Amino acid sequence: MKIPFINDKQSKESIVYPEGPDHIAIIMDGNGRWAQKRGMPRIAGHKEGISTVVKIVKAAVKCKVKFLTIYTFSTENWKRPKSEVDFILKLPKEFLHTYLPDLLTNNVRIETIGNMEGIPASTREAVQYAVDRTRHNDGLQLNIALNYGGRNEILDAMKKMHADLIDAKLTLDEVNEQQLSNYLDTAGAAEPDLLIRTGGEKRLSNFLLWQLAYTEFWFTDILWPDFSEREFRQALEEFRNRKRRYGSI
Ligand code: FPP
Repeated sequence: MKIPFINDKQSKESIVYPEGPDHIAIIMDGNGRWAQKRGMPRIAGHKEGISTVVKIVKAAVKCKVKFLTIYTFSTENWKRPKSEVDFILKLPKEFLHTYLPDLLTNNVRIETIGNMEGIPASTREAVQYAVDRTRHNDGLQLNIALNYGGRNEILDAMKKMHADLIDAKLTLDEVNEQQLSNYLDTAGAAEPDLLIRTGGEKRLSNFLLWQLAYTEFWFTDILWPDFSEREFRQALEEFRNRKRRYGSI
């Protein structure tokens, strides 16, 4: 069932939402457990996870978040049973097929991070279509991390940088943190201000290893399909009360 994205009633509300953080990254964990607790196959949890993605994208638009990066499929997720891998990799197409009109209406721009070459062609084409269709939108940028791994991203960046050094497009003196950032999949995007991980685990699981250096972390035991705008706003509220010192005092 398609859930409403931003309905008329909500868009006419005159609530003023506080702004920031600019970039939120989310590890959407707990889909499998959510389904198993209900005696359903794990894939039912992933399917339900799409509804949460829709709710959180909608909340992020309302909160004027500039970038939302969601960990949809990691380079390590290939170790799962093939049937589950196949199912997860079909979800981006399903999500975009149903919600692209709403994403367009809400000025959302779609981007991807990760190695798209390893992804099934029909998913890759659906995602590329959405990237192209939303290219000129300047509202929320939704980064879908697909076949993404932080270590792999850094290695790829180093290889590209090495090639540019050999071609004399870059000198060793010019290599610095900013330069390396420019070679990552997230080039041009602000680094995440806030990382949310649902599902009770407290680890990074190879997500945005370079980019999360000064990010604030917010963990919850709530499983991704149960996560809602309420907890999302709570995370934002706590973030706004934190003092970010970036190594200073
Ligand atoms: C981790 O939970 C979740 C994933 C590996 C898949 C996440 C995918 C979605 C939420 C749907 C993506 C939607 C879009 C928009 C493309 P888990 O399976 O590890 O859960 P568990 O820890 O309970 O086993």
